[in-house]
Amino acid sequence: MTRHVIDPVTRVGGHLRLEVEISNGVVVDAWSAGTMFRGIEGILEGRDPRDAWLLAQRTCGVCVGAHALASVRAVERAVGVVPPRNARLVRNVLAGTSFVLDEVTGFYQRAALDWVDVRLALTADPADAADLALASGSGGFAATADSIRSTRDRLARLVAAGGGPLAGATEGHPAHRLTGPEGLLLLVHYLQSFDWARSVARIETLLGGKSPHPQTFLVGGIALAPPWTGTRGATGGHPDQTQRYMPTALGPDGLTAIMGWLGEARRFVDEVHLPDVIRLARTYPEWSGIGESGHSYLSYGEFPEDELLDARRLLPGGWVTRDAPGTPHDVSDGSIAETVAHSWYEPDERGHHPAEAVTRPRYEGRALPLLMLEGAIRYSWLKAPRYQGAPMETGPLARVHVAFAQGGREVRSVADGLLTMLGADRELLRGTLGRTLARAIEAEVLVARLPGWLTELRESMAEGDRAFADVSRWEPGSWPARSTGWSLGESARGALGHWVGIDGRRIESYGILDGSTWNLSPRDERDVRGPLEQALVGLPVADPARPVEILRTVHSFDPCLACGAH
Ligand code: NI
Repeated sequence: MTRHVIDPVTRVGGHLRLEVEISNGVVVDAWSAGTMFRGIEGILEGRDPRDAWLLAQRTCGVCVGAHALASVRAVERAVGVVPPRNARLVRNVLAGTSFVLDEVTGFYQRAALDWVDVRLALTADPADAADLALASGSGGFAATADSIRSTRDRLARLVAAGGGPLAGATEGHPAHRLTGPEGLLLLVHYLQSFDWARSVARIETLLGGKSPHPQTFLVGGIALAPPWTGTRGATGGHPDQTQRYMPTALGPDGLTAIMGWLGEARRFVDEVHLPDVIRLARTYPEWSGIGESGHSYLSYGEFPEDELLDARRLLPGGWVTRDAPGTPHDVSDGSIAETVAHSWYEPDERGHHPAEAVTRPRYEGRALPLLMLEGAIRYSWLKAPRYQGAPMETGPLARVHVAFAQGGREVRSVADGLLTMLGADRELLRGTLGRTLARAIEAEVLVARLPGWLTELRESMAEGDRAFADVSRWEPGSWPARSTGWSLGESARGALGHWVGIDGRRIESYGILDGSTWNLSPRDERDVRGPLEQALVGLPVADPARPVEILRTVHSFDPCLACGAH
């Protein structure tokens, strides 16, 4: 048995260290360690609750706006205000865009290269790759053999010069089975995904003011001005145009621009992302049985479709066990607890609900640089969240299974369509491949729904509804003397909760528990492994010096360690 360290694991959000024990070509044990701590929750204590979302969203610049939304919702619940319909629609468009960007780039920019023999791909004939693109419906994106050749030559020059992001490519690795033209097409789409993401992110810049870290949230709604309908040009009148090159977000030109970018988002998901994951599923079907966490699936649900506190959600909430995936259970906030038995915090053997957790960092690991964690009881800045005492897997795969159980028709329809195309049943939606497919299924559900939210917004304004915020609870004098609030929602990477306690006009306590904390959790007080740790156990590794199988499974979670430990 030999112990191997991967630190840092690249192509993840934040800082991840893995240690694995490998025996006879199989992982027999694993430790997942988050190696960065900042103390965002402590920074929030004593602040004005109306400012919380601006600071809380600095938890992460990759999961764009996820913590701003969670924070503003938690404070709204505490002070007792429900944002109006228009604000919900803008928030859905912003969060939905962020989901699609994360899910597509999660596949192309973080996971895809694990499945490609780059050197083999760069020897492929561009004409063969162009034929393949046409046959799978990606013809309009990959364009011609000439453009593929130019991309191939550009990448070949990069590899010859040292590789850049392609350095350390795993050529000749036995885990690779895509043909040269298939690999080349995936590399072309990898590069195209950068241009695509830059273009689609303009939705975030127009509705959020900038990206990452949108600036237009507001306790009670959204701080966007609806188009001016009064007189123009008179002294003190509203300016015709506030910015020279960008249209006003909610004006006719702005809404038309956003609709166009949503169309770009949809076209790439339909014609590029889905065909590519279908090809991956056909080439590597056994990867649905590899990399399973074996844990239950948890989703808090996201994208409210009405203003009710228990709104219908496009992605339903709930949890299901692996043994009875068809039986949904409702999520009970009181069943969530975090333990720090193996984390670098003040020792506390008891689990605490995130609203009551005290975060007191205490690094007592080895002297830096860390060479090996072997023998260390505490090994991560992530806490170990548990639901009714058990680890839970969250993220796209969990949400798809919860949607199946809860009758989420939009998810079910896309997922069943994909499985029919693959001639497979729901058993394919497991493990490393299952997470990869679920990410594409969800991106498809969202690109289909997003234009609808924008249309509803346009119609609502056309009918004369100009309300984007309810500011009746803006002044602290209107708040209860003491109050608590919470938000249970989703970011692209998994179940995201924020809890706030307010005393007078100040934040007394603040708790954040992110989807990546669930997925990349260290062991708990009973020494039960977290989902990623468990998913790695049993994984075949052909060459420990080039552990591409481990990377495939890590990247299938698309982890964000910045969110995981904050
Ligand atoms: Ni993040």
